Amino acid sequence: MPQLDWTRDLAVGVHDLDYQLEELVDRITLLHEVQYDLYEDVTRKTLLFLDEYVTRHFHTEEAYMRKYDYPQTELHMGEHADFKENLNRLKLDFARRGTSPMYVDLLKNNLTKWLYNHIAKRDLELGRLVKAAIDKSAVHRREELSTPALQPIDLTITERNVNSY
Ligand SMILES: [Fe+2]
Repeated sequence: MPQLDWTRDLAVGVHDLDYQLEELVDRITLLHEVQYDLYEDVTRKTLLFLDEYVTRHFHTEEAYMRKYDYPQTELHMGEHADFKENLNRLKLDFARRGTSPMYVDLLKNNLTKWLYNHIAKRDLELGRLVKAAIDKSAVHRREELSTPALQPIDLTITERNVNSY
C-alpha cells in the first residue's frame, strides 16, 4: 500500500474541508502511536471524535453537494450512511467488550480503509468540484468589481446644458 502524506495529498484548498481532514488524520496517527497503557483513553476519545466527525464533516459535505449540484450525491451519501452504521457497530463493540490491541487495530484498519476508499476518492472529487466552483465565483466577483456598469449619458439638449458651453 503506497504511503501518502494524507493532509498534503488530499487537501483541496477549501478551508473547512481541509481542516476536517487534518483532524481525522491526526486521530489516526494517534492510534498508530498510542502506548498500551493509554489504549482505553485514546479509544474513547477517538470514538467521541468520530461521533462528532460524522455529524459535522458529513453535514459540511452534504451542504456543498446541494449548493453546487454535485452529480454523485446519492452514491456519496450512501457511503456516509455505511460509515455511520459501521461506527455504531464499533461503538457497540467497545461498550460491550472495551478496548484491546485487537480493537485498536480494528479501529485503525477501518479508518485507513475509509481514507483510501472514501476520502481519497469521493471526498477528493467533491472537494475539487467545490474548490473550482468557489474559484469561478471569485473570478466573476472580481470581474464585476473591475468593470463598473456604464451609466447612460443624457444627450438631451436643453436650454440649461446648451448654455453651459
Ligand atoms: Fe464524504
